[in-house]
Amino acid sequence: MSTVIDVEYEQPACSTQHAWARVPVEPSADERIALKARIKQLLQERNAVMVSHYYVHPDLQDLAIETGGIVSDSLEMARFGRDHTAQTLVVSGVRFMGETAKILSPEKTVLMPDLDATCSLDLGCPVTDFSAFCDQHPDRTVVVYANTSAAVKARSDWLVTSSCALDIVKALKDKGHKILWAPDKHLGGYIQRETGADMLMWNGACIVHDEFKALELEQLKKEHPNAKVLVHPESPADVVALADAVGSTSAISKAAREMDVQTFIVATDKGMLHALRQQNPGKVFIEAPTAGNSATCKSCAHCPWMAMNGLAGVAHVLEFGANAVHVDPSLIPRARLPIDRMLAFTSAHKAGQNAGALVPHIGAA
Ligand code: 13P
Ligand code: SF4
Repeated sequence: MSTVIDVEYEQPACSTQHAWARVPVEPSADERIALKARIKQLLQERNAVMVSHYYVHPDLQDLAIETGGIVSDSLEMARFGRDHTAQTLVVSGVRFMGETAKILSPEKTVLMPDLDATCSLDLGCPVTDFSAFCDQHPDRTVVVYANTSAAVKARSDWLVTSSCALDIVKALKDKGHKILWAPDKHLGGYIQRETGADMLMWNGACIVHDEFKALELEQLKKEHPNAKVLVHPESPADVVALADAVGSTSAISKAAREMDVQTFIVATDKGMLHALRQQNPGKVFIEAPTAGNSATCKSCAHCPWMAMNGLAGVAHVLEFGANAVHVDPSLIPRARLPIDRMLAFTSAHKAGQNAGALVPHIGAA
C-alpha cells in the first residue's frame, strides 16, 4: 500500500541555469598539473582529506584516491568523514553531503568548492511544509532520504540513503511501523514495491534520474542483447523494471565489478562512468538514454550542481579556508539522531549482527 501525496507548497525555483553558469572552465593540461600539485601540498599543510562523490569531475575523484581520501556513495562519504582523523574535510558533491559531514563532526572544518551546489530533492522539500505534513500524520514513522536539509533531517526519525533504505524500511515494517517517506517518490516507490511497507510519500524527484526513458532503454537493450542494465533507484519505475541490478552508486560500482559480462548500460549520472571505466578496464559502459533536454548536456544525464565542483575550487577553499559549511548549532543534536541510527543500523548489518534489533516495536519507543 502506498500513496504519493502532492502536498501544496511553494515550490522554490529549481533553475539549473544558475548552476550550469557556475560550472568551472576546464583547466588546461598545465593548469591541471599545477592545481593538482598545489592541492596535494595544501592537503598536507592543512591536515585535510578529500571526500568526493562519484558524480563529480574525474579530476576530483582521481585526486581523492591519490591522496588517501575517498570516492563513494553518500552513505560511505558520511561514515568516512566521521571516522577520519583529519581536521578538515573537503567535500566535493552537493550541499547535503557537506551538511551531513558537519552534523557528524561539528568540531571539524568542512569545506566545499561551491556552497551553492544543491539538489532538486533538497530544494523540493522545504522544512515548514514538510513539518506540517508530518504533523498531519503523527502515527507514522518519518523516514527521510539523505538528500535533504539539516532542518528536514531534524524533523525525521530515520535517515536513509539509497544503499540502506531497503533494509531499514523492511526492518521498520517488520516491527509494525507505517512510514511517512520523503522526498524522492521514485526511490520511495521502489522501496515500497520491494518491501510491501505502508508508505505515504512526498512528491519529490531527482531532475537528473527522472529523465531516463524506458522505451528508449528497451530499444538500446535490443541493440546490446548481452548487456546488463545498472540503474540508480531515483529513476522512474518503468526504468527500474528493466534493470539487472538496482542500487546506490557504490552498489552500481560493485555490480559492475562482480557481474561476469563485458557490456553494461548505466542509468545514473554520467560522472559515475569515470569510476566504472577506471575500475573495469576492458568492460564497456554505455549511458542509458534520457529525454536529452539538459542545457549543456544534450544527450546525457548530468547533475548541474555536482558539475559545479572543480579543481580550482578545491585549491581555493584549501588556500583560504573559504566556503566552510555552516549548520545551525541548535539543529545539530536533533539532526544527528536519525543519521546515527542509520550508521548504527548499517554497521550492525555489515557485521552480520541483528540490525533489526535496533528498530523498536511500534509503541515501544
Ligand atoms: P548515492 O547515495 O547512491 O551516491 O546517491 C546520491 C545521489 O545524490 C544520487 O543522485
Ligand atoms: Fe540531487 Fe539528483 Fe543531483 Fe543527486 S543527481 S544530487 S539526487 S539532483
